[in-house]
This record gives sequence, C-alpha cells and structure tokens, in this order.
Amino acid sequence: PAHPAAPQGSQSPTPTPGGLPTAAARHFPADFVFGVATSAFQIEGAADRDGKGPSIWDTFCRQPGAIADHSNGDIACEHYDRWEADLDLIQSLGARAYRFSISWPRVRATGDGPWNEAGLAFYEKLVDGIRARGMKAYVTLNHWDLPQALQDQGGWGARATVDRFVEYAEAIGRRIGHKVASIATHNEPWVVAQLGHESGIFAPGLKDRRLAAQVSHHLLLSHGRAIRRLRALNLPATLGIVLNLSPIYPATDTPQDHAKARLEDGKLRRWYMDPLFKGHYPQDVLDDLGDDAPQIADGDLADIQQPIDFVGVNYYSRGMASADNSFDAKRSGLPLTDMGWEVYPQGLTDLLVGLHRDYPEAKRLYVTENGGAFPDALGPDGQVHDADRTSYLDSHIAAVGDAIAQGVPMGGYMVWSLLDNFEWASGYEKRFGIVHVDYATQVRTPKDSALAFRDFLRGLPPHG
Ligand code: NOJ
Repeated sequence: PAHPAAPQGSQSPTPTPGGLPTAAARHFPADFVFGVATSAFQIEGAADRDGKGPSIWDTFCRQPGAIADHSNGDIACEHYDRWEADLDLIQSLGARAYRFSISWPRVRATGDGPWNEAGLAFYEKLVDGIRARGMKAYVTLNHWDLPQALQDQGGWGARATVDRFVEYAEAIGRRIGHKVASIATHNEPWVVAQLGHESGIFAPGLKDRRLAAQVSHHLLLSHGRAIRRLRALNLPATLGIVLNLSPIYPATDTPQDHAKARLEDGKLRRWYMDPLFKGHYPQDVLDDLGDDAPQIADGDLADIQQPIDFVGVNYYSRGMASADNSFDAKRSGLPLTDMGWEVYPQGLTDLLVGLHRDYPEAKRLYVTENGGAFPDALGPDGQVHDADRTSYLDSHIAAVGDAIAQGVPMGGYMVWSLLDNFEWASGYEKRFGIVHVDYATQVRTPKDSALAFRDFLRGLPPHG
C-alpha cells in the first residue's frame, strides 16, 4: 500500500532510526494486527460540546489535589476537532488498526435519558474515517468516563448501572457495530474497581473495599450481559474485554513471598479471568475479602461467562510480591520509566504464555496497550529523540513474538499511545505518546519512536 506524505514535523533532518531491530527478527503471522491506541477522555477535549454530559472524570478533575498538575480533560488534545488529521497521522505510520474509546456521556449525556445524535454521529464519522484509510476500528465502550448522572445514582456500585451499560452497548452496536473490527466492553475493570473505589486515586475517588468488590462484580456482570446483547445483533465484529495484567513474581524464594504472589495474582488476574471463563470467583480471594465479598445474585456467574472472541491485555511492567512489602523497584537494577515502572519485556512473554496455559478458553489474545512514559522534550532540531521509548517498544514487540513462537494465539499489538495525552491523576505531566503534542499549539510531532515503528511496519510482509 502507498504511504502518503508524513504530516508536518515528521521530516527528520537526520536519518530515521531504522525500525525496531529486535522485533523485526521475530515472526508475526500475516493477519497479526499492529495498531495504536487512545481513549476518549484522554484526547478528545470538547468536554461540553454538542450535547455531551459530564463524566465522573470531569467531576474528579475539579476535586482539589486529585490531578498532579491541576489539569482536566476540557481541551486535552482537541481530538474532537482534529480527528481527521489524527487519522491521517495514524495512516502515515502504517498502522493497521486504531483502538479508541467512546465517551458514554457524549452519546447519552445522563446515561439514562435521550440519545445524543451529535455524539453518535461523531463516532460514526470517526469509524468511517478509519475504514476509508484502510484501517480497522477497535472500539472500547467503557474507558472509565461514566456519566456523572449515573454516579449520582450509585455508579458502578448500583446494579441498575449494569442495565444502563447494556443499553449503551446495544446502541453502539446498532449504530457502528457492522463497521468495526472489534468491540471491547470494559478497559481495565481492576483499575475502575480498585483505584476508583478502594484507593480512591482515580474517579470517582471513593475509598471503600466492600464497594470496590461490588463494583468489580457489576463490571463483570455488565460485560457478560452486554456481550449477550451484542451477540444477538449478529455483528461481524469480534467481542471481548480488556484487562490490565502483569505476571506477579515472588520477590524472594520464601514461602511467604510465594503465597503473597499467588494472592496478588488472584486479585489482579484470576478474579477477572475465573468468572469470565470458568464460572466462579477464586476462593482464595473470596476468603481474603471475607465480609467485603460482593453480593452475587442467582444467574450472575452464568451471565458473566459468555463466550467471547478475545481478551485484550494491557501490559506495562511486572509485579513483584513481598510479604513484608520490602520490594523497591528503584533498587531492582532494571531501567524505570517516567511512571517509576520497571522495564521488563520478559514479563510480557511470561504473562501471555501463562494466560494461554491457564485459560485456553480465551481464544485469542491481543496486547491492547503497551508503551512507556518518558520525559520527552522537543530538541533544538524540532524533533524528539526518545531512544528509551524506541527500545521499550522494540523489546516488548519482540516479547510478543516470543509468545507467538511458544504457541500463544496472538491477534495483535497496539502501542499506548498515539499521542501524548491526559494521563489521569498524573495530568499532562507524563507523556506516553509516540507522537509529541505541544499543548500550547496542539502541534503533533512524531517522535523518533513513531518513525521507528513506522519503519518496522514497512518492513513487515504484506498483510492478509
Ligand atoms: C492503561 C490505561 O488504559 C490508559 O488509559 C493509561 O493511559 C495507560 N494505562 C498508562 O497508564
């Protein structure tokens, strides 16, 4: 396929970095999909335009101290107005897929009232634009921006929110489901439950372990019921869910650290994967929750265990478990990203191999997010020489290749993220983009890592 001229800013005076050599040495099947990922709240801006209602993140950003740089999503990357240029940019990189999310309060301001035609039309235009550029659309329904009006009625802690989510899923399925490659119900339900409702560092900012457990159950229930509703629409799209997963290693070889690692894996991975694929919650985690375990109604577990086509895995780093919490990433000797997360590509291979071994029912796995925040800046030459990110992507894409070589049925890999964007509680201070965003001017400049990814993709054999 022809590659149109790269957008403004990408013409490096120095030679481009020349791809991702380690990744290029691996074999990827012809139908393997390489793409880039974003989410609505993190890039769209236009927080109250054309009938959009407030989400819990709009509210949370106004809470003093919630966001490191006191910012919010009002403007973000202005993607709502710049989406066409952004799609041109994705195409210029040679990506085959674009994973994005739909803002629920943009398509239904209060989550239970009238549908907002302007919002639905925006996403339909976006999907048409993705297809017109020869790319596949990977849609996420819930990337955390719950309508505030539903939060006011109990949010994910309320069982009625499950019904509202199923209605939302069906509306999106009917409007664009026949044009998209894939629909994921939730992004990282563990984060919504734990960081939103137990530690309270993410919206809605609550600190209640029992509520967090109930929220995780409602998220899973709404997933299963939405899948059933979407399935009934007979769409060509694959249907699944996206989880944040890490392999959890014991920090030392003591039985205590091994036990801790097992429980942490239970809370992060088995708590979601067991009900999705085996029809029950893990007993050790239920025991650990004790009285805080969720209320589960008859039929819920059967509803959750709907057959799905894929599990998306968001991987950033490994997890280390020590019974006395003495593990310190800063002293592990591994390189750290700007988030303080260890760079550990082997963890991605271990994770994917282990996931396929323990849950062969998850027919196909995707890496729906992988990438790193690094303290980038535009150099005097107007470019961003992010060798650390290029090396991160190189080693992690190679790690996916290693999992494929070990027989894991992998469907694709998406870089987090296309653009520098609103990194939740970190605000705009952490930059995950392979494309730099100057927030004062909204100018996008592909970083060296974007050019390396582009060159890597150009070097792949033609795809099916
Ligand atoms: C996972 C989340 O899905 C995404 O929204 C976030 O920006 C990245 N991790 C990086 O923290």
